[in-house]
Amino acid sequence: MKIAPSMLSADFAHLAESVARVENAGVEMLHLDVMDGNFVPNLSFGPCVIAGIRPESKLFFDVHLMIERPERYIDYFVKCGADGITIHFESTENPAEVLKTIRAAGVKPAVAISPDTPADVLYPLLPLVDMVLVMTVYPGFGGQKLIPACLEKAAQLRAKIEELGLAIDVQADGGIGAGNLADVLKSGINVVVAGSAVFGAPDPAKAVADMRKIEAELA
Ligand code: DX5
Ligand code: ZN
Repeated sequence: MKIAPSMLSADFAHLAESVARVENAGVEMLHLDVMDGNFVPNLSFGPCVIAGIRPESKLFFDVHLMIERPERYIDYFVKCGADGITIHFESTENPAEVLKTIRAAGVKPAVAISPDTPADVLYPLLPLVDMVLVMTVYPGFGGQKLIPACLEKAAQLRAKIEELGLAIDVQADGGIGAGNLADVLKSGINVVVAGSAVFGAPDPAKAVADMRKIEAELA
């Protein structure tokens, strides 16, 4: 399991300290939720903030674009230090082209689906990506409750990836914490986004250790 805490739940008045605390807790990625107030009904932060935090962290920067027509901004997110860029299937007319642009820029491409989008729309895109993201809440806000039906889509995607013999991560995002982590992992998910459960925890290191313990108990 790779843990990707979402910076959306960080302390924005003390961003570098907040990220350092989570990084020291021993996680693999920093999940960066970019929202445009259009694809989702919320605004967050953009390339300037990501560029600002980039020198402060060695983590893999996992940029989740919740923006309409992301093809307009790939360049910006490559330049500000993204290691991976996830676009939403629903946000653009030609996801395949955008994924190819991301790959050509030397960044790992990924594609996401919102709760109402079926898993099979992603099957033709699997050869183009390093990761698929199954949203387990409606994108836009941290701190929501996980929608269990979304985990079935993750299982479908995992089965298809295995059938095709590909090495692709399956990420889930939204409402994940110690209480439902076992179910999440059992559905074939190996990259877990956790906003409130890690950045929002009084002791992020303990929250991460608890999550690793749950994973170990499943083995
Ligand atoms: C929601 C974002 C998530 C969110 C997760 O639109 O994509 O990454 O920050 O937060 P939690 O873990 O609190 O649900
Ligand atoms: Zn996200």
